Amino acid sequence: MSFPYLRPRRLRKNKYLRDLVAETRISPRDFIYPIFVKEGISEPEEIDAMPGQYRWPLEKVHEIVGKALDVGVHNILIFGIPSEKDELGSSAYSSDGIVQKAVRKIRKEFGNEVVIHTDVCLCHYTSHGHCGLLTKKCRDGFCEHVVDNDPTLELLAKVAVSHAEAGADVVAPSSMMDGMVRAIREALDRAGFTDVAIMSYAAKYASAFYGPFRAAADNAPAHGDRRTYQMDPRNGEEALKEVNLDIEEGADILMVKPALSYLDVIKRVKDTFPYYPLAAYNVSGEYSMVKFAARNGLVDEKKIILEILHSIRRAGADIVITYHAIEASEWLKEGL
Ligand code: PBG
Ligand code: ZN
Repeated sequence: MSFPYLRPRRLRKNKYLRDLVAETRISPRDFIYPIFVKEGISEPEEIDAMPGQYRWPLEKVHEIVGKALDVGVHNILIFGIPSEKDELGSSAYSSDGIVQKAVRKIRKEFGNEVVIHTDVCLCHYTSHGHCGLLTKKCRDGFCEHVVDNDPTLELLAKVAVSHAEAGADVVAPSSMMDGMVRAIREALDRAGFTDVAIMSYAAKYASAFYGPFRAAADNAPAHGDRRTYQMDPRNGEEALKEVNLDIEEGADILMVKPALSYLDVIKRVKDTFPYYPLAAYNVSGEYSMVKFAARNGLVDEKKIILEILHSIRRAGADIVITYHAIEASEWLKEGL
């Protein structure tokens, strides 16, 4: 026998043989598609920072939901862009808020064909753009504005209950306040929504990859940044602490966000808590980098996007929240 006799290339010689031994598969069923619904517009607005993504008016949001369903994507994540903001983010928990209206409309149109997830946070609704209440704290004459954890919990609970009342299936708290999952679980249960699930943004990093989203959704903090509540990108072990707390508080689905610079975190969370469904959020900056590179002819758009989505699943994510969901599902139908 002549060397080499161990030849991995044997299993790579034909497309269908490669398909047979592929370890990772992706399908439209793995995707959650994020949708922006904006108050006070009548036509969809393309988002400059996110080519191919739109802010949808309430009257037309069924068009994009229908498109997702047509390609087999049955899970959507709703973000609201309200026309009114105030210090307390009160349009976030009004029964007439944009998210509440959108959920009712989508449910009426599509029934249980669609699983409606809603983002639960205050930053789109507060005039200061922080994910929690801002309080001035003074000590020995030195004063500063801080994002005040505990009073924020009550408001997040109100937001979640108002989404559940509108008909949301899954609420997704993204503020990174300590205790948010427990506060929301208790409030949902008290209001009788014991079947509404919580997908917690458990390990959410203070990331520059959210740049295009903040331009799209107008939720950038007016002063300061989110580093007092979102995680430090230098930390990996700490993600396990955050995830563990959310599990103890009652999270049903866990999330790591962003995805690509955090594939190691995805892997660690999945290895440590294999019995919880794990989502990874392929965020706006990850989406837009690829779109702009493809527009400039630097990369093969379809190949790079499918490579990225497979890599997130290979790292251990069961669920991928991605702006690519619709186009990727179309490509998967055509075959790789
Ligand atoms: C806010 C929120 C953010 C995203 C989802 N919810 C960003 C932020 O912290 O400003 C980011 C999503 C993306 O970049 O695609 N709670
Ligand atoms: Zn927020």
